[in-house]
Amino acid sequence: MFFAPAFVTLSALVTFASALTGPKIILPTADKWWVAQSTNVLTWDCKNSQATQFGVYISNKDPKVLQGNLAIFAQLDNTVCSKEVTQLQVTQPAATGYTLLFTNIVNQTDVYSQSDEFEIKPLGSAYPQTSSVAPSGTGTAAGSSSSGGSSGGNNGASSHKSSLGYGLAAVGALVGLIAA
Ligand SMILES: *[C@@H]1O[C@H](CO)[C@@H](O)[C@H](O)[C@H]1NC(C)=O
Repeated sequence: MFFAPAFVTLSALVTFASALTGPKIILPTADKWWVAQSTNVLTWDCKNSQATQFGVYISNKDPKVLQGNLAIFAQLDNTVCSKEVTQLQVTQPAATGYTLLFTNIVNQTDVYSQSDEFEIKPLGSAYPQTSSVAPSGTGTAAGSSSSGGSSGGNNGASSHKSSLGYGLAAVGALVGLIAA
């Protein structure tokens, strides 16, 4: 008897979750923001997904911030599990109310996954802390391989690089958390 309300809530959640067949988006989330004009990291639960490929879109509940859905990646393989998003791929201004959508690669209205609402904080903001592992001093090797893909045009490349390293370290910490 006491358990009935909890059961109803749980079954409602399960029903909702089964409508979306894509992976859970782990980063960004409500308390794991992105930083504007910086390289950020997108991470999802690639181990529990029925989707093998998806497109990635960004949206905002406020049409004054962003109208409609804007493509970030046309096609990602689920098995990649995590993807850097450069400031050239997402040029959105700092604001709250963003969500990411993982969609069918040929039909973006067929949404597999939707992230929490998250914030893009202004350039220079610290990246979110992730659990007990201090994100410092790691991620430099991966960071150095990431600068391809565009032919320059970056002012402040050094600050870009350091924020990238920090972001990757944060993901490392997050992955460690999941594995634990
Ligand atoms: C795209 O996906 C939506 C939602 O699943 C569906 O209603 C629509 O029929 C699909 N469109 C095409 C062309 O398959």
